[in-house]
Amino acid sequence: MVRSTAWLLGALLGLICVLPPVLMTPRTAQCTSLKTLKNKLIGRRRNMKHNLPINYTIRVHYEEVFKLSNITRLRARVEDLEDGDLQDVWLLVNQEVLKRILRVLPVRHPSYKYTTDLEDLFRKVQQVFPPQSDEREPPEQIEEIYKRVKEIDSKGWRFVTPKSLLDNCYRTMHCLFKDCFPSEDREQDYCGLPHWRKGRKRLQ
Ligand SMILES: *[C@@H]1O[C@H](CO)[C@@H](O)[C@H](O)[C@H]1NC(C)=O
Ligand SMILES: *[C@@H]1O[C@H](CO)[C@@H](O)[C@H](O)[C@H]1NC(C)=O
Repeated sequence: MVRSTAWLLGALLGLICVLPPVLMTPRTAQCTSLKTLKNKLIGRRRNMKHNLPINYTIRVHYEEVFKLSNITRLRARVEDLEDGDLQDVWLLVNQEVLKRILRVLPVRHPSYKYTTDLEDLFRKVQQVFPPQSDEREPPEQIEEIYKRVKEIDSKGWRFVTPKSLLDNCYRTMHCLFKDCFPSEDREQDYCGLPHWRKGRKRLQ
């Protein structure tokens, strides 16, 4: 029953994505995979909060906490920053975050499969990411983030809940790929915190 409902929903969503040929841009594939990811992320409360002990936290690098405020700060401070740079950081950071969450979950944990499904969806998103041009090097500050995320012996650790990490993922995704998430409200500012405060009641 649940399965067939899920299937129907999937089919319906597929249809909606296929129907309007006017919207077919080169970014369509990217948006399709991001929307699938978004739908999966809607289940993060149950999987990353209710299925875990109260206030359970995991240890992550400073850089793995990538929030809206980071985007605002980087946009203000880094010269020659392109959205593609931030999108690359988003992808890398969140793939690292998922690895960290998986490391603390036993295979039979009720959230294990959810997390590996997210990993798969991230791989799909990565496959349709536009490659960065060879001629351009990312700004130094961005390179620095890559380096620090990959460092095994980081000096800076923070303890955060898996749910808050996925909240960051969800919000920054809307901010960085806002073309993929059109809204009826034209004033919608996914990059601003007030949008998400307001949205709390809507289970976002
Ligand atoms: C969980 O954290 C909240 C907010 O920091 C705190 O009020 C609450 O007492 C904590 N609950 C437990 C069981 O530690
Ligand atoms: C985001 O900002 C926090 C400080 O608020 C910092 O510790 C973290 O490294 C930043 N993340 C990235 C990816 O720059």
